[in-house]
Amino acid sequence: MNPIKHVAIIMDGNGRWGLKHNKSRNHGHRAGLKTVEKIIKISLKKKIPYLTLFAFSTENWRRPKKEINFLLKLLENFLQTKLNQLIEQKIKLKIIGNKNKFPKRIKKIINYSENKTKKNKKLHINLAINYGSKSEIVESIKKIIKKKQNVSEKKITSNLYTSDLPNPDILIRTGNTKRLSNFLLWQIAYSEIFFEKKLWPDFNESDYLKILNKFKIIKRNFGRI
Ligand code: FPP
Repeated sequence: MNPIKHVAIIMDGNGRWGLKHNKSRNHGHRAGLKTVEKIIKISLKKKIPYLTLFAFSTENWRRPKKEINFLLKLLENFLQTKLNQLIEQKIKLKIIGNKNKFPKRIKKIINYSENKTKKNKKLHINLAINYGSKSEIVESIKKIIKKKQNVSEKKITSNLYTSDLPNPDILIRTGNTKRLSNFLLWQIAYSEIFFEKKLWPDFNESDYLKILNKFKIIKRNFGRI
């Protein structure tokens, strides 16, 4: 049985879910946050040590301002209202992505939350925000060159945002779309990928458990036979 150390998720389909329910796209994002909370709960129960969630890509800045502001507010509220719960549950929160582009207020609360949870070890939640994989790889190579070191796979890995995380065992994308959308391209070289038809707010405990159970019995070769 394959052990599960790291699950990464592209939480797609919030906007469509909101519209499908004759409401706004933002209504879908709010519902998406409820699914995030459910998935965190199950990950804790199943003793999965790393969970990485794609919450905002570098390309998402192209969305209408109203939607961007809503997503930022959702993040801010989440950190404000759930931080104590994260601490109690021994969850370590880490942001992967370029924090510089965020308003000062959000940066402050992100840094505060990371700092308050940094010693926790039960579940590492990595929120990918203003994250783009290609730029992450370019930045990693730039750092290596700046330090006048030789470029190697090991060095590129150790200069990514994810340098302290194991590679994802499982990548899930909901929303009935089969693409990777510039998410963890380097890190998922040997991950098992599950494309899920359901929109993210509809993704539930049983869908998640089905994937975890399917993964456990996959023969993983890592290039061998
Ligand atoms: C993709 O769906 C989803 C996002 C860009 C945002 C994801 C955010 C959440 C689930 C809220 C979580 C927030 C926190 C604080 C963790 P989409 O809007 O691209 O959906 P569509 O494909 O239907 O348009």
